[in-house]
Amino acid sequence: MLKIAVLVSGGGTNLEAILKAIENGDIPDTEVVGVISNNKGVYALERAKNHGVPGFAISPADFADREKFHKALLEKLDDLSPDLIVLAGCLIKIPDEMITRYKRRIINIHPALIPAFSGKGYYGLKVHEAALARGVKLTGATVHFVDEVVDGGEIIAQKAVEVKEGDTPEILQKRVMEEAEWVILPGVIGDIAKGKLSIGE
Ligand code: GRF
Repeated sequence: MLKIAVLVSGGGTNLEAILKAIENGDIPDTEVVGVISNNKGVYALERAKNHGVPGFAISPADFADREKFHKALLEKLDDLSPDLIVLAGCLIKIPDEMITRYKRRIINIHPALIPAFSGKGYYGLKVHEAALARGVKLTGATVHFVDEVVDGGEIIAQKAVEVKEGDTPEILQKRVMEEAEWVILPGVIGDIAKGKLSIGE
């Protein structure tokens, strides 16, 4: 059984896609052992609850400093002892200690075709605003391993999406989520669950 912990920050649509893929068998032999949000009251935690998955809010605002927040996050992950950690709409910078402890066992979904529109400052709608400003005809999403460089880890999967006349950042974000993110993230987790993609060192 592949045990995964999912880290979220907001709406949780990628989490929903993962939970649905587990429930319909597209991702076999897998259990989400916990969902951790750095923000309280986000809909992603509602989604976890609706699917009977334990949800935890571990917010930097509740700790005296960043180091104590990181310690609490790592302790929760140690409790859950996942095989794989999935960053699904997660906006916190992952501490180096976590990257070391879960080497090649943390994956992230980025809403562009890395290396385009990636790295520091490129997240959420900003990614799509930059793609539209540049005038690209194709954009998409990328699943990659997380290492010390923001959006710089080994690329695992990508899926291209057409940019259409009149697209706004919101319209483009929705198309990238529907046609790419919600497809390749469950797809990669399914490959890991089926042993088609190895994780860890
Ligand atoms: C999405 O644009 C995703 O690509 C990015 O965070 C945004 C929200 O994701 N990583 P979700 O709806 O919270 O999964």
